[in-house]
Amino acid sequence: MTSSRLIAAQILLNVVDQGRSLNDELPTRLAEVDIDQQPFVQQLVYGASRYYFALDELIGKIVDKPIKDKERLVHMILAIGIYQLWKLNVAEHAAIHETVATTVESKRQWAKGLVNASLRRFQREKEALLAECRRGDSFPGWLNKRLRQAYPEHYADICAHSNIPAPMSLRINAKRQSPKAWLQIAEQEGIQAHACEHSHVGVTLQSPAPVAMLPGFEQGDVSVQDEAAQLCAQLLPIKDGDRVLDACSAPGGKTGHLLESAQNLELLALDVSAERLHRVQENLDRIGEQAQLIAADAADVEHWWDGKAFNAILLDAPCSGTGVIRRHPDIKLLRKSADISALAKIQQNLLQKLWPTLAPGGHLLYATCSILPDENTQQIEAFVSQVSDVEVIELNLDADVASPMGVQWLPQPNGHDGFFYALLKKTDTADC
Ligand SMILES: C[S@@+](CC[C@H](N)C(=O)[O-])C[C@H]1O[C@@H](n2cnc3c(N)ncnc32)[C@H](O)[C@@H]1O
Repeated sequence: MTSSRLIAAQILLNVVDQGRSLNDELPTRLAEVDIDQQPFVQQLVYGASRYYFALDELIGKIVDKPIKDKERLVHMILAIGIYQLWKLNVAEHAAIHETVATTVESKRQWAKGLVNASLRRFQREKEALLAECRRGDSFPGWLNKRLRQAYPEHYADICAHSNIPAPMSLRINAKRQSPKAWLQIAEQEGIQAHACEHSHVGVTLQSPAPVAMLPGFEQGDVSVQDEAAQLCAQLLPIKDGDRVLDACSAPGGKTGHLLESAQNLELLALDVSAERLHRVQENLDRIGEQAQLIAADAADVEHWWDGKAFNAILLDAPCSGTGVIRRHPDIKLLRKSADISALAKIQQNLLQKLWPTLAPGGHLLYATCSILPDENTQQIEAFVSQVSDVEVIELNLDADVASPMGVQWLPQPNGHDGFFYALLKKTDTADC
C-alpha cells in the first residue's frame, strides 16, 4: 500500500497543477490507503489545500534553488511536510522522518537531503519564517482583492473564519420528529449537540460524527446540512399541495428539505448534470419522499416546462462557493477571477428565464453560497431593474452585512456558512 503522505502529496499535485477537485480525487485515492489512515490523508490534503499559498511562499524561503517543474511532486511533499510542522499536533521528529521516507518512496532519492534539510530549517526558524510570511491567510490574490473591496470592515474575519473547519449541522425531518426530541435521543446515545439559532429544524453537533452513528440517519429522520442551506426551505413560502420548482437541485439537500416542509408538494427537481441528479434520487429514497426529476438546463425552459406555472421556485444558483471555503478549501486553488463574471451571466440568465414560469402571487427564492456582491446583491439589482412584475420581499432574518436586496450571511465559526438569500414575489397583473 502507498503511504498516506505520498497519496496526500499526489492528490495535492493533482488539485494544484491539474485543477482537479478534492471531491473528484478523494473517493478513488482514499481506497489506496489502509482504512485507519484515511482520516489522516483527508486531514493532510484539506489542510495543505487550505494553506497552499502560504506553504508555497514558505517553500520559496527555505529551499536554496527553486525545484524544477518536472519535480513538482517534491514540492508537494515539502508542502505536506511543512503543513504538519506548522499546523498539526504530530511529533516533529516523526513528521520529518516520515516525510523524508515519502521522498524515497516516491523514487526521488535525489531529493532526500533537500527535503530533510528544508524541513529541519523550517523547524528551527519557524517563528521568524511565519512572521515574515505575507500570505498567512492563504487566499488567492484576486479573491483577497475582491473581499477587501466588498467588506473593508469584515475582510480579516472572513479570511480567518474561512480557514476554520466548519461544524457539522443536521436537519431533523419535521414530518418525523422535532429537533428537541432528536436531541434527547442523541444525548442518550452520548452525542453532544445543540439546536441551531436560525433554522427551526437544525441541530449542530459538538464534534463531527460519521453518519452511521447518527440516530435515525438510515431511516431518513435526519440529514447532514449546514444551517445556512436549511434557511432556503424556511424562507421560501410554500403550502401543502403547491407546485414547486427546485431549479438547480443536485445533490438534493434542499429538495429533500422542501418536501419535508409541506404535504403533497408537486415538486419538479431539475439539474443540468444527469450524474448529479442520481444523488437527488438517492437522497429522496433515504428520506422516503418523491419528486419528478429532469436532467436539463433550467434556462432552456421550452425543453422541460409543461406550461403550468409554479407557486414557488427555489433558484439555488451555481456560484463561486466563496461562502463555503471552510468546507471546500480547494476553491481557493480552483476558482479564478474570470469565473465570477461567467457565473454572474449564468445566474442572471437563470433568473430571467425562470421568471415567466412563476405564477402571479408566487415567490422565487434566489440563493447562493457565495459572499461576492457580483453574484448576489448586484444580480438582484440588475434583475429588478429589467422586470416590472417583481417585488423584493424583506426577509425576517438578521444580516451579517447590509444588502438592500436580501440577506448576506458571512461564514461564522461554529455557526452557519456564508450564504445569500433574496425573496422575490411576482405581483398580480392588477398590481402592475
Ligand atoms: C449550488 S448547487 C445546488 C445544490 C442543491 N440545491 C442542494 O441543496 O443540494 C448548484 C447546482 O446547479 C447545477 N446547475 C448548474 N447550471 C445549471 C443549469 N443551467 N440548469 C440547471 N442546473 C444547473 C449544478 O449541476 C449543481 O448541481
